[in-house]
Amino acid sequence: MRPLIIANWKMNTTLSEALLLANGVKRGLAGLTSADVVLCPPFPWLVPVGEVIYHHPLKQLQLGAQNVFWQESGAYTGEVAAPMLKGLVGYVILGHSERRRVFQETDQIVNQKVKLALASGLRPVICVGEERRPAAAVLDQPTEEAAHHVQQPVKELRAAIKGLTADQLKKIVVAYEPVWAISSNKNAVAATGIYANFVSQLLREELESHDPEASAHIPILYGGSVTAANVEEFSPQPAINGCLVGGASLKLKDFLTICQQFN
Ligand code: PGA
Repeated sequence: MRPLIIANWKMNTTLSEALLLANGVKRGLAGLTSADVVLCPPFPWLVPVGEVIYHHPLKQLQLGAQNVFWQESGAYTGEVAAPMLKGLVGYVILGHSERRRVFQETDQIVNQKVKLALASGLRPVICVGEERRPAAAVLDQPTEEAAHHVQQPVKELRAAIKGLTADQLKKIVVAYEPVWAISSNKNAVAATGIYANFVSQLLREELESHDPEASAHIPILYGGSVTAANVEEFSPQPAINGCLVGGASLKLKDFLTICQQFN
């Protein structure tokens, strides 16, 4: 499967920083032929960053949003609806652990958002992940018993894709993001490659149990403290098809190194 690297800028960058970063990524990716990259800037920068991306576009560079609301329109002050992003972005990050925790998003809300995103032609990037870090021995050598640690991501995935048709399922992207590994959390450390691969394989089995044919189209990404220094831990793993990068995606050189690693 063609690798996919998604940059989640979160609530960072000024307009000039965003433009500088987007231009730098675009220049740096000109020679990238075997991977796709998606930049997800904050909402107000989608149009200006989109102008950078879509002016003499590179096939391998796309734009994404970090969220949408769970209704199509209406009296929801401050929210952004999926149809508003149609034609502007190709992807939208949904169910991120920061949204689940800070904004109390439930599995049901994530499922609703996934359906609305798909109805507007956006590819939902569904984030799932467990809160508790497993024991070091499990991280180093996950066994079948370790599967009980990873019930949460599998359960979140199952809930997020509930009611999707096989055609809709084909359009999703799954991001396995253990909450304990996300750099903004206290004492965060990246997962081991072998453990991230193990959980990605469980997620793949869940997708296959829904529709084996559709599953073959769905990239499974790893996210959580991916850096230029540790990306080689994840890129060779057979069940991992790319990564979702937060902090390191704000550093041009590091982000390009990560993308090249999957090329
Ligand atoms: P991180 O964030 O790479 O800074 O850990 C990843 C994410 O939250 O998507």
